[in-house]
Amino acid sequence: MIVAFLNQKGGVGKTTLALHLAGAWSARGRRVLVVDADPQASALDWADQRLREGLPRLFGVLGLARETLHKELPDLARETDHLIIDGPPRVAGIARSALLAADLVLIPAQPSPFDGWASSEMLRLLDEARIFRPELRARMLLNRCAARTVIARETAEALADQDPPMLASRVGQRVAFADAARTGRLASESETGQMATRDIEALADELDGLAQ
Ligand SMILES: Nc1ncnc2c1ncn2[C@@H]1O[C@H](COP(=O)(O)OP(=O)(O)O)[C@@H](O)[C@H]1O
Ligand SMILES: [Mg+2]
Repeated sequence: MIVAFLNQKGGVGKTTLALHLAGAWSARGRRVLVVDADPQASALDWADQRLREGLPRLFGVLGLARETLHKELPDLARETDHLIIDGPPRVAGIARSALLAADLVLIPAQPSPFDGWASSEMLRLLDEARIFRPELRARMLLNRCAARTVIARETAEALADQDPPMLASRVGQRVAFADAARTGRLASESETGQMATRDIEALADELDGLAQ
């Protein structure tokens, strides 16, 4: 299955969630490849940081920030159980190509009443892709949720009936996620990462359920 983390907005958690989901799936014995489709290459930086720290390789990270993803990924996907695309902000050409390659699109969003979902560029790209690929599945994923805040609840309520539907799993605002980029570690490898790891395990469970 090809899963693409996409959102034209930067800083919503595409890279963090792509890497952590990859870690959770590879810990379950799956063959996982992360395709870094962001010209800023933060997933590749994370993999480099791991190498420098002498940490073991958990899954492959391949840099492919180009508009030909949809032609190149099917071959790569055959060698894996899960190919995860870490999408770029802004670059619509690459996002379009990822939308042609993906089986499932995950759109991370932060709980905010001001996010203006309905009019977002991302949803427009998704609608456009569905003209050619009506079977393309997409889900919103709330990231950086503070525990039970009014804003998170209101955002969830406001988005509840929308298309794409929202995953039941939410990912909390956790220091262990914020540390990951700098340390090259996943939350599951950090002493303070239990809550973050629980969030990701629940996400992986829900996605495994979707894939069946
Ligand atoms: N759930 C979270 N809890 C805490 N920090 C987070 C969380 N998700 C993302 N971050 C932090 O937010 C910043 C942006 O996340 P990132 O994954 O790079 O977003 P994107 O790839 O969409 O630009 C990073 O510094 C990351 O560590
Ligand atoms: Mg990123």
